[in-house]
Amino acid sequence: MVNIGFGIDIGGSGIKAARVNMDDGEFVGDRIKIATPQPATPEAVAQTVAEIVRTAEWTGPVGITLPSVIRDQVAHSAANIDLSWIGVDVRELFNRHLDGREVSVLNDADAAGIAEVAFGDPRAREGSVLFLTFGTGIGSAMLVEGQLFPNTELGHIMIGRREAEHRASSAAKIRDGLSYRKWAKRVSRVLNEYERLLNPGVFIVGGGISRDHERWVPLLDVDTPVFPARLRNRAGIVGAAMAVAAHLTP
Ligand code: BGC
Repeated sequence: MVNIGFGIDIGGSGIKAARVNMDDGEFVGDRIKIATPQPATPEAVAQTVAEIVRTAEWTGPVGITLPSVIRDQVAHSAANIDLSWIGVDVRELFNRHLDGREVSVLNDADAAGIAEVAFGDPRAREGSVLFLTFGTGIGSAMLVEGQLFPNTELGHIMIGRREAEHRASSAAKIRDGLSYRKWAKRVSRVLNEYERLLNPGVFIVGGGISRDHERWVPLLDVDTPVFPARLRNRAGIVGAAMAVAAHLTP
């Protein structure tokens, strides 16, 4: 029998969801995407989440990602989401909007990292790995032998006078009209700082822009091997589904 889960990835512009085959990490059926309501307050987002679950006719447990530090199922940061998320008991919020069913909420980059460990490049499971997502911000998942050290927020490390993600997210590339060559210089500077502080065995780079990895990964000037995530944009949804299947409550 196929083991199916359900994951929802909440981002600044879209909320994406799908049924996931838990044995191979592939989507079962179509991915659903709805624009994130603006302002993206907890109540508005939870209503959209409930609408997605209804549309999908899914009645089982639901895993959910947020671009936020999640400790004991409470949101503790809101860098690229509405500030009103800070201090919200996200389990209570989504429980209430999803008829009390089991939910598990975790950081978006952490979800993508555990999905890559399970279904991506085998190198993600070995040694010390820094998994990074480049999007509106820079998300990080720190992995040791495939085990997650949750809630690292390495996108907020100061590089000079600016946070890493303000310099080198893919949103910064668009905002500043940078070529891949120029943007790769900024990414290199960020990765050099991570090398200096953390000395990972490898970097794995994900997020939408990793689809174009041939255009920028070879331009990076770093000592540590860098390779693209295999799961790309699927990773958040898959990791969310995995988290609730494992009853994880970071
Ligand atoms: C947030 C992280 C998140 C990352 C990627 C950052 O701004 O602080 O929690 O993982 O963006 O969405």
